[in-house]
Amino acid sequence: MQRTLLDRIEPLTEDVVSLVLRGTDGPLAPWEPGAHVDVALPNWLTRQYSLCGDPADRETYRVAVRHDPLSRGGSEYIHRFLRPGRTLDVSLPRNHFPLLPAPGYLFLAGGIGVTPVLPMLRAATAAGVPASLVYVGPSADAMPFAGELRAAYGDAVRLVTTREHGRPDFGALAAGLAPGTLVYCCGPASMLAAAEAAFPAGQLRAERFQPLPKAFGPDTAFEAACARSGRTVQVDADESLLDALNHAGHALPSGCREGVCGSCEITVLGGEVEHRDDIGAPEGRMYACVSRALGPRLVLDL
Ligand code: FES
Repeated sequence: MQRTLLDRIEPLTEDVVSLVLRGTDGPLAPWEPGAHVDVALPNWLTRQYSLCGDPADRETYRVAVRHDPLSRGGSEYIHRFLRPGRTLDVSLPRNHFPLLPAPGYLFLAGGIGVTPVLPMLRAATAAGVPASLVYVGPSADAMPFAGELRAAYGDAVRLVTTREHGRPDFGALAAGLAPGTLVYCCGPASMLAAAEAAFPAGQLRAERFQPLPKAFGPDTAFEAACARSGRTVQVDADESLLDALNHAGHALPSGCREGVCGSCEITVLGGEVEHRDDIGAPEGRMYACVSRALGPRLVLDL
């Protein structure tokens, strides 16, 4: 964790604010476009936010937070109670949505999903790679950073306000795409589904805030042998591996608890894992909040 001070809270739209977090112990950890951090809130909740500032700025991190009407306590707390001057612990940046080399980029963003795209568009433009953004929202005044983006990138940014124009035609965008162009999409589930229907899988990279609906076999009990502590933890059928490990005293971090943020990643030394996350666990790793053992036992590097 890195200790930060909340330097500024700036309203961006009626329901979005940006937070500027200043490192208190020297430069903050470096990051690349697409990265996110966990922010530990004073009300004991941890939430993930994409970094939307400038990676060259090692003094501050900038994130933007939409007030979710169905908030489970994170955005509600930030919008109603959080004030500048608070100390907040922030994780090291993680990046499940990296900007891969390509001859061109098309960015598709919906609402607050624009946040990871901001540093991506900046990096692509600075590198001289053709890049454009289609940014979708109900109206221009409800779209954070809309004015800033248009001012910085001109016609490379197309704002699609659905109240006036309806949804953009992804099929037409796909048909006009230059070969090799990578498409990055971040937005609500309906937008990701439309992008997946329009663009070939190899060309599209998507970041999810919510898990895809999936079906798995029934949850079964298993043992988690922790190689370093020498302890064996029993995981019951009705609890997650994350909860079982935490109850046994391993104090693993967690954020989304839905397999989309990566906070609870652990190393697996043995046994077969049923991966249930939406991130794509690297070889030898798993996300303990949702993934389970396929057999009777896992061996973990804990
Ligand atoms: S807590 Fe987010 S992936 Fe496990």
